[in-house]
Amino acid sequence: MTQRTLAIIKPDGVSRNLVGAVLSKIEKEGFKIVAMKMIKMTKEQAKGFYRVHEGKPFFESLTDFMSSGPCIVMVLEAEDVINRYRELMGATNYKEAKPGTIRYEYATDIERNVVHGSDSEESARFEISYFFNALEIMTSP
Ligand code: RTP
Ligand code: MG
Repeated sequence: MTQRTLAIIKPDGVSRNLVGAVLSKIEKEGFKIVAMKMIKMTKEQAKGFYRVHEGKPFFESLTDFMSSGPCIVMVLEAEDVINRYRELMGATNYKEAKPGTIRYEYATDIERNVVHGSDSEESARFEISYFFNALEIMTSP
């Protein structure tokens, strides 16, 4: 089934000039980029985005980090892309990530792990609509 997922290159990835490297891995997997832009979230916007983690010990630090600089947000489309993009990202803790994954190659910290990806169809719907309206997402002819 063709799916969409919300992918982010986090502020560490943008500031370390890893945008091209991450996009290259995404394109090599055959995922289609159907929407993309650069944004800088406010602290409140980052808290809204990661609201599922509210109350967890890393929430303040995570939302400070995610609002610390520009991110690239994009919508990817492919068969089973939610799980396949999470495979490409690698484990949240980069020390457990498999070789070849984005986090294995580029993450420096459990928090500064370069990329985000939706973890379910429900979260993909919420996260895509958090950043994009219908006119900003390309549909196939
Ligand atoms: P993401 O949502 O960013 O794609 O990452 P994920 O699903 O692999 O991990 P999740 O559990 O959703 O955590 C969201 C982000 O919070 C930071 N984190 N820090 N210090 C910690 O123990 C800790 N745990 C998670 C990471 O930036 C993680 O990607
Ligand atoms: Mg997550």
